[in-house]
Amino acid sequence: MKIAVGNDHAATELKFVIVDYLKELGHEVVNFGTNGSESCHYPEFGEKVGLAVAAGEVDCGILICGTGVGISIAANKVPGVRAAVCSDCATARLVKQHNNANIIAFGARIVGSELAKDIVKAYLDAEFLGGRHQTRIDMIHEIEMRNQK
Ligand code: RB5
Repeated sequence: MKIAVGNDHAATELKFVIVDYLKELGHEVVNFGTNGSESCHYPEFGEKVGLAVAAGEVDCGILICGTGVGISIAANKVPGVRAAVCSDCATARLVKQHNNANIIAFGARIVGSELAKDIVKAYLDAEFLGGRHQTRIDMIHEIEMRNQK
């Protein structure tokens, strides 16, 4: 798969661990940064990855900030993005199976690197179940359409 990654300064170290892990698994990685440790602003990276995912330039995205929350909120402002914060493997599996999340996010200040790798694997290995879950995703899409300016 082609996978976009994005992060702020709080998560650069973990981002590189995840990039290496994704490559080990045979995936192509598009790194939207940051690659440094200087303070920066997570919305920028959430939007970049969100736009790449929504445009179909990549198959899915992985976002990391201190908690995973700010960067996922930013990505979710891009129409068509379903970014979900996951701090455990069961959630990572379920956000694909039920929500067809096209981005997962987690926090470098919340999860360690081994758990982060397991979260990524659980998400990538899972498949969307469709059926009643598609109905609910369609409803989310309708909310997006109704509230466009
Ligand atoms: C940066 O200090 C921190 O606020 C950010 O990484 C993230 O946790 C926000 O949600």
